[in-house]
Amino acid sequence: MNRERQAAGRTLNVALIGQGFMGRAHSNAYLQAGRFFDLGAQLRRKVICGRDAARLEDMAARWEWEEISTDWRAVVERPDIDIVDVAAPNALHAPIAIAAAGAGKIVLCEKPLAMSAEEGARMVEAAKGLPTMVWFNYRRVPAVAFARRLIEEGRIGRVFHYRAAYLQQSGNDPTRPPTWKTEKAQAGSGVLGDLLSHVVDLALYLNGAITETQALQKTFREGRDVDDATLALVRFANGSVGTLEASRFGVGCRNRNTFEIHGERGMIRFNLEDLNRLEFLDSSEPGNVQGARSVLVTGPDHPYAGNFWKPGHIIGYEHTFVAALADFVQSLETGVAFHPDFEDGQRVQLVLAAMEKAAGSGRCVRVDAAGLG
Ligand SMILES: NC(=O)c1ccc[n+]([C@@H]2O[C@H](COP(=O)([O-])OP(=O)(O)OC[C@H]3O[C@@H](n4cnc5c(N)ncnc54)[C@H](O)[C@@H]3O)[C@@H](O)[C@H]2O)c1
Repeated sequence: MNRERQAAGRTLNVALIGQGFMGRAHSNAYLQAGRFFDLGAQLRRKVICGRDAARLEDMAARWEWEEISTDWRAVVERPDIDIVDVAAPNALHAPIAIAAAGAGKIVLCEKPLAMSAEEGARMVEAAKGLPTMVWFNYRRVPAVAFARRLIEEGRIGRVFHYRAAYLQQSGNDPTRPPTWKTEKAQAGSGVLGDLLSHVVDLALYLNGAITETQALQKTFREGRDVDDATLALVRFANGSVGTLEASRFGVGCRNRNTFEIHGERGMIRFNLEDLNRLEFLDSSEPGNVQGARSVLVTGPDHPYAGNFWKPGHIIGYEHTFVAALADFVQSLETGVAFHPDFEDGQRVQLVLAAMEKAAGSGRCVRVDAAGLG
């Protein structure tokens, strides 16, 4: 199906695969996107797919999905489905996305795109020519989009340091049962794919390509075959250097996704736990009044401010999914390229693969992004 027909059809029938945490976040986005944004196309919540039929009935009733299914293979083949949205465990991303792309669907996929760079390359190949999206939703936090605007405007000038960490504390709870996220066969990796993928995506979005890396990984919980923490040093193509870190043992941090960027003209700092704010320092101001200001990024003249509430009326986690989906659907209509798409997801995979290799070998590893547009 071509881009023009998808947009001109005006109603896009959605199949969502996954009824868990992201199943809820995406369901909410499908409900809300057309309410906050002018979309042109109508998103019809056609079928939600999972494994547990009884819970699916509940889920479908709550989020107004028309049908349920426990067979994703049948769902992705249905001729009446336009969009297949993959919100299942990582091991299912490639099989579902490749089957959906083979059936000519628009494919949306949760992060990380894949379990490995090899798998990611196959997904990119399968989806060539089709509209795709990876749910790196943090690009759509207004404060993050505003950070990018400030950088593009040269407000911090040449960048020296990019420092980021995504810290959670769930690993430190011994009563917490293992889940698919702590099994290599289901997740591909531990925090590397789970949390550091978000960090890498934002680093690429805000500071450009990463050329090489050194890294170390640590598993604190015995018996696990995935990393509980990954710490990396990176070089960027723009000449800056960075530290990127993720851990499930960041005790004291619930969901602390932070970055700090130091440039010749200023500094930018963000923390997801306070997502309506962006810290900004303008180092051209006289030294005696210089200091980081905490900007409440809710308008006026802030990204997405016009779509949500009035200035000062804060937004939350769910709005990032709403805005990401809305931007994607608008891109189908306008033909303006949407990012992050599968190629952007694969750029992240290549950096993660280099980090894993660097941690395993103790060497500095170059990131090979050749072949991506
Ligand atoms: N963008 C984000 O911020 C963010 C946050 C959390 C998770 N994620 C990603 O979202 C994806 C799902 O994570 P989650 O936290 O929602 O997991 P979850 O365990 O809460 O839900 C996974 C869902 O997949 C379903 N599932 C499993 N096997 C299936 C099968 N064979 N057929 C159909 N459905 C099946 C399960 O029934 C469950 O509903 C992962 O790739 C994860 O990395 C992204």
